[in-house]
Amino acid sequence: MCGIVGYIGHQSAAPILIKGLHQLEYRGYDSAGIALSGKEQQAFHLFKAKGKVSNLEAKVSSVDSAESASLTTGIGHTRWATHGEPSETNAHPHLSMSGELALVHNGIIENYQLLKEQLSGYGYQFKSQTDTEVLVQLIDYFYQKNGKQLMKAVSQALNKAIGAYAIVVMEQSNPNHLVAARKASPLVIGIGKDNEEFFLGSDATPLVEYTHKVIYLDDEQIADIQPGTAVTITNLDESLANVNIKDVDIDISALSKGGFPHFMQKEIFEQPHCIENSMRGRVIQREDGLYEIKLSALTNFKAKLIRARHVIIVACGTSWHAGLIGKQLIEEMCRIRVEVEYASEFRYRNPVIEKDDVVIAISQSGETADTLAAIQLAKSEGALVFGIVNGVGSSIARAADTGIYIHVGPEIGVASTKAFTGQITVLTMLALALGNALGTISEEKFQNICSQLTTIPEKMEMVLKQNDKIEQLSERFTYAKNFLYLGRGYNYPVALEGALKLKEISYIHAEGYPAAEMKHGPIALVDKEMPIVTIATHDELYHKIISNMQEVQSRNGSILAIITEGDDEVKRMVSEYVEIPSIHSCLVPLLSVLPMQLLAYHVAVKKGLNVDMPRNLAKSVTVE
Ligand code: M6R
Repeated sequence: MCGIVGYIGHQSAAPILIKGLHQLEYRGYDSAGIALSGKEQQAFHLFKAKGKVSNLEAKVSSVDSAESASLTTGIGHTRWATHGEPSETNAHPHLSMSGELALVHNGIIENYQLLKEQLSGYGYQFKSQTDTEVLVQLIDYFYQKNGKQLMKAVSQALNKAIGAYAIVVMEQSNPNHLVAARKASPLVIGIGKDNEEFFLGSDATPLVEYTHKVIYLDDEQIADIQPGTAVTITNLDESLANVNIKDVDIDISALSKGGFPHFMQKEIFEQPHCIENSMRGRVIQREDGLYEIKLSALTNFKAKLIRARHVIIVACGTSWHAGLIGKQLIEEMCRIRVEVEYASEFRYRNPVIEKDDVVIAISQSGETADTLAAIQLAKSEGALVFGIVNGVGSSIARAADTGIYIHVGPEIGVASTKAFTGQITVLTMLALALGNALGTISEEKFQNICSQLTTIPEKMEMVLKQNDKIEQLSERFTYAKNFLYLGRGYNYPVALEGALKLKEISYIHAEGYPAAEMKHGPIALVDKEMPIVTIATHDELYHKIISNMQEVQSRNGSILAIITEGDDEVKRMVSEYVEIPSIHSCLVPLLSVLPMQLLAYHVAVKKGLNVDMPRNLAKSVTVE
């Protein structure tokens, strides 16, 4: 939610900032801005534009190239509005009334109204509706009061601020100085050669082109950044903190569309390869042909995991849907009771958490504010926190006691696709390995599911080959106003996920339901106008879902069925279907979700919508 970039060094800052903002645009895209500086005491060069970063880029390109080369310090921001509508006035960077400080901010200052009133009392005036402008004025207040010591002013201001922030501040009097800080919102500092330049970003993606040495700021830390000197970090109480430099490695090719028209389509088609990566070195076939699962997180925390009598899964959105599948996997294979909670509800409702509980936090970004808060609550009650995360080095990965990366590479499209299948793959491996350790799954079943799991990549390829057929099918659905998605058992969360995908990117209202629940209400909506996507694959509940489909057909509902390859019974029943290869029922979601993703994608493209950056959404939800 909102992307921050910064640069300080010897190069022209503007192109680095603009490129970085493009890479972070998935975090928010309603307005963008940069502030540049190069010469002492000279006013900041400030550029802002409503809408996409490309609008900002057009404005910045008006700067004369000689002048641009001299502007070697800068901060930039791409916004997802929280306070105040998307507009140039509300876009970041915000300047203090004195014009001496410029600030970019990600997060929410909850007590901004009170602070604004106090600052107004000191004569401060405000141009925007944002909490960020209040913060820069507050820093300015202490800056003016304390002999223009920026580090001190930032720490004094942040001690007064309640809420979440990642900030970068620059000062007019010293263009060779940036100050950055974070609390509950990520910020990464990239270190250039010999400390001669530094790069800042909300995540590491805009930095890896320039450096692999990074510092992930921790909560309530403030970094003092000056070229030629190592970064120093202090805590909010001004005591010195340790500086931990990490190596980061991100595949830069993952940051481009690789010939696909959209990131979402590329990410859908990447899934066979991603799942191979997720399983690599973890699902192992021994020389005797038998399988074993090796998860270091399980080895290191075996005693605690085996002792757990209760697992609580916390997550949001698509990750929560993966959690619902995880519940069924763990209950089936490990016979441990599992609850799945929306992190946003869990964190505020005084849940029962016991010391022997294991809390599994699932998150693609690893930065979701509600999931992070749920982890903190679980830790404070003494539970073991197990992260299932994609974002390497992310806040959730670092906050968890242990965990497993899903290893599907950066996901840029706002609608999550490959992360979902990566999360299910990891949950399957975890349930299998834990069930094996507990003795709650038979060796025969363990071997059978492991062996079928390894066939998923090739079976995914087979499903993806039906892309053209799904594209054709999608044509007539672009006019639909409402959709119903039905599934049972392992396919019920897939129905929820299919509905979410369609809503997010095509703006068509869709609901997912356990198929048998339909007759308890939603059946009233069924008519020939409403498409009903039904997952009717061969499993224990197959005949039940056929009955549910008949109930729909008796009311003239039109069904698009996801079926097991060669199922002539359903083919005779419905005119529209997509076939998926036969697989063990607990693995079906890894295949049945693919037609859902493709359907949502093609409907949105046919409606002419921006599938990678749908309205009102952001990739990483770092505000609650
Ligand atoms: O990064 P996370 O997995 O924690 O994000 C959770 C949700 O915000 C996310 O899944 C969201 O629902 C996606 N836009 C779904 O496509």
